[in-house]
Amino acid sequence: MALDLTPEQKATGTGNFNRVVGKLAGADQHPFPTRRDFMKGLIGGAAALPLTAAAYYGYNLASVRGRPVRAGLIGCGDEGGVLTSEHNPEFVNIVAVSDIRPTNLDRIFVGEGISSRRKGLNYFYGGNSRRNEIKIHEKYQDLLDDPSIEMVIIALPLNLHYRAVMDALAKKKHVLCEKLMAWSIQQCKEMIREADKQDCLLSIGHQRHYSMLYAHANEVVQSGVLGDIRHIRALWHRNNTNNPRQVTEGGRTFTAYGNDGWRKEVPAADRQALSDPEKLRAYGWDSVEQLVRWRLFRRTGGGLMAELGSHQLDATSIFLRKKQPLSVTGIGGKHFYDDEREVEDHVYCTFEFPGKNYDPRIRPRDESGNCLHNDIVTVTYSSVSTNGFEAYGECVMGSRGTMVVEREQAAYLYGLQGRSTEVTATTAGGRPALDASASTAPAEKRAGDVGAASVGSNVSYGYREEMEHLAYLIRNREGANAADRANLKPRCDGRAAMADAIMALTSNIAMRLQRRVEFKEEWYDASKDDTPERDLLERNT
Ligand SMILES: NC(=O)c1ccc[n+]([C@@H]2O[C@H](COP(=O)([O-])OP(=O)(O)OC[C@H]3O[C@@H](n4cnc5c(N)ncnc54)[C@H](O)[C@@H]3O)[C@@H](O)[C@H]2O)c1
Repeated sequence: MALDLTPEQKATGTGNFNRVVGKLAGADQHPFPTRRDFMKGLIGGAAALPLTAAAYYGYNLASVRGRPVRAGLIGCGDEGGVLTSEHNPEFVNIVAVSDIRPTNLDRIFVGEGISSRRKGLNYFYGGNSRRNEIKIHEKYQDLLDDPSIEMVIIALPLNLHYRAVMDALAKKKHVLCEKLMAWSIQQCKEMIREADKQDCLLSIGHQRHYSMLYAHANEVVQSGVLGDIRHIRALWHRNNTNNPRQVTEGGRTFTAYGNDGWRKEVPAADRQALSDPEKLRAYGWDSVEQLVRWRLFRRTGGGLMAELGSHQLDATSIFLRKKQPLSVTGIGGKHFYDDEREVEDHVYCTFEFPGKNYDPRIRPRDESGNCLHNDIVTVTYSSVSTNGFEAYGECVMGSRGTMVVEREQAAYLYGLQGRSTEVTATTAGGRPALDASASTAPAEKRAGDVGAASVGSNVSYGYREEMEHLAYLIRNREGANAADRANLKPRCDGRAAMADAIMALTSNIAMRLQRRVEFKEEWYDASKDDTPERDLLERNT
């Protein structure tokens, strides 16, 4: 996401980002928060400057060495393949898998090639001969019955997160479940309570919590060099309109598109294996089409806000110090496709977030309609399915600078002088700022600093780290006292992930009701039964 930035401007922006991150890491005087301050916040103690993601996030291999956590993978589809590819067998050993589609069970072993995003289990654990050593279960409950499995990685469609997580927790497994946490906030709350009750860890796969790029981007935001942040623009744009063809299905004729990843063809082998409707229903599905295209339907998916928007609202809320939004308005609908989908193909949502000095007692306007001052940050999110211009990312706009994070892979930073000017962080005049005159030093690049030179380079998205960290937590809880155990929790635990789910699912409700919705404090409290769906859809308050 970089609008019309030229390669030269991107290089300047990357240099600026690296230089400022390097400067902040070395800063030891206020008003800059230092890397050490962040480390204290992250791991509860002073630490040396981090060199690796593990050090940065406060974990290590030492406590796991020789005893990787035994894990089962439930859901071997696209994301299960990515997580397999990213797992580090020094921390996590995948000893069993479960899926109901034979094609995906094949793919999880074979992968899509060693330079692809899905390397396959054979790549990590040896060729086909090893396949016998990793247990394969059609029913995930059989995997959960294995007492030697300590942790499960759940990469199932959204409608099954709740059931599978509750089943896993009941068997005392620690859980990493993919985002969105659950289909409803009531389900999120029950999952949190069950994890607490079973004394198990529940981590949710919003990987930006473990991305070094986002960690450094957040340092930049919190340092104050961007000035007064009034607006964040987040987006995920794609063009899924290639190769149109007429299709007749279920008595209807409509246009389908070759590159529409949400409406894939059903492989013949899966159709044959799942031809018994009773069996399919027992696995949670009305039809094999629904299983393969689960994102299109409201019972099984959560639309663009759940699938894409939740990631970027997660990033936005990290930048805004995890404050919950005040309100959301949105427009979204089925504006392009005429197929069987029940969810939006275009969404445009606007959020009001409270700034540092927001005062809830102040009304937006007086009786005459005059605006009254208050500290509010406006966040816009758009997801477009018909035009991939700008791709995806977040643009943080402050009164003294702009930061763009593009495709989880690169960050660019600019001061007021524009997109071609080198800047670095200063505290001239007693306040943090971006200064062109002090930027003659080359961009500082340290191990672990990740302002990528170009999008597509090998910056970690955070998947690997989220699994490593969970394994570290599991091993460190062993024999720890209650106080230490309480501090050993995933960076995106159930409560953090529920806040993301509240933003995504409440946006869906705002679009459905076509009105401005205000967020309620009680929705964020797992011990209370108040939820957006109950308050807004059932009680209509
Ligand atoms: N963190 C990220 O960036 C990211 C990216 C993509 C997807 N995801 C999430 O990952 C999850 C899975 O998405 P996906 O793209 O892999 O979907 P997918 O359809 O490709 O894979 C889902 C798999 O679950 C299997 N499955 C369905 N019902 C089952 C059952 N009862 N028992 C066992 N297996 C069953 C399916 O057969 C399929 O192989 C979703 O929650 C999605 O939102 C996260």
